[in-house]
Amino acid sequence: MIRIDSVTKRYPDGTVAVDRLSLEIPDRSITVLVGPSGCGKTTTLRMINRMVEPSEGTILIDGVDSRQQPVNTLRRSMGYVIQNAGLFQHRTIIDNIATVPRLLGWSKDKSRARARELMERVGLDATLAKRYPYQLSGGQQQRVGVARALAADPPVLLMDEPFSAVDPVVRKGLQDELLRIQEELGKTIVFVTHDIDEAVKIGSMVAVLRTGGRLAQFAPPAELLSSPADAFVEDFLGADRGIRRLSFFSSAGLDLLTAPIVAVDATAEQIAARADAGAPYLLVTDVEGKPLGWSEPGRLTAGRIDRGQLLSHGRPFVAGQESLRAALDCAVLSPTGWAVAVDGEGRAAGVVSQQAIGEAIRGAHEDSVGPAKVLR
Ligand SMILES: Nc1ncnc2c1ncn2[C@@H]1O[C@H](COP(=O)(O)OP(=O)(O)OP(=O)(O)O)[C@@H](O)[C@H]1O
Ligand SMILES: [Mg+2]
Repeated sequence: MIRIDSVTKRYPDGTVAVDRLSLEIPDRSITVLVGPSGCGKTTTLRMINRMVEPSEGTILIDGVDSRQQPVNTLRRSMGYVIQNAGLFQHRTIIDNIATVPRLLGWSKDKSRARARELMERVGLDATLAKRYPYQLSGGQQQRVGVARALAADPPVLLMDEPFSAVDPVVRKGLQDELLRIQEELGKTIVFVTHDIDEAVKIGSMVAVLRTGGRLAQFAPPAELLSSPADAFVEDFLGADRGIRRLSFFSSAGLDLLTAPIVAVDATAEQIAARADAGAPYLLVTDVEGKPLGWSEPGRLTAGRIDRGQLLSHGRPFVAGQESLRAALDCAVLSPTGWAVAVDGEGRAAGVVSQQAIGEAIRGAHEDSVGPAKVLR
């Protein structure tokens, strides 16, 4: 849909912000532009909707040179979201969201109905409709910004560091919300960030730019992490690239052991049988099978298992659903060195040692990034 073809932007003072950039932005997915400050991300984004005109090269939208379209038509087909949302301070939330429909000549009622629908879609409580932007938290304002950009249902969303002004927890929520919205609405999203974790999490494709506006690498995140094109990209990905890459491998292949699991109401024979399985610790569950904690087998007495004596099992991972990174994290944090796997209902599905996870990681690396192992 959007093709950037050898585009250069030279500002009047001679600064080359973008240098012969070529990118094919796939339809209906999230493409992330990432790179250090001043590398030309905002300039690139603004050239797509012609807030900035390229000095050389062309940008094709659906195969048509963007300069052949009236600029207003072009901009209406592209929602734009910026850091701190950029809301109109003197307008209520609902009127902020209804801005573009109103400009397009929709009636007040229809525009507001649309705005209410969007508030729900981006997870904003309807009671906030009549407030002004200053009466909202930063995260809520950012959601309003997204709703406003979606109001006229444009096929494209351009987002310039939309979530960088909020704290990590709110940010994670906004990212999850964006992924959900993208899945539901199938928008083509170009998303700028300088946070590589954010890029890897939300991007289907990630373009890494270097200072001077040159493309360093354009690849799906798993490929970026496994095969950075050069030292600059590798450096930009950071020291824990290997650990991050594990988030693209499913935990489905892990061999979960159920032998070292014992229920809190187990009989003496059951405890003895589990102890014979040879595991240094047993995982004790409640009667529904939900994990309670670890114990050495010798410390367990039928009918008198004291929950207070158990070692914490930490945060379990959801078997098959979460990644090897999550499984490894559980094992590393576990006092026994074993991770606890649960099913969707939180019942213990099995336990797995650090060593077994290590072997699965080696196996996954050998298979490289075969499609069956990639989570997204
Ligand atoms: N209007 C302008 N006139 C001259 N130079 C400009 C102008 N706008 C941006 N630049 C320069 O172009 C380069 C790229 O700027 P741009 O805003 O695209 O970077 P960015 O990657 O978005 O950076 P950041 O991560 O800090 O937002 C920078 O060197 C910047 O100083
Ligand atoms: Mg910028």
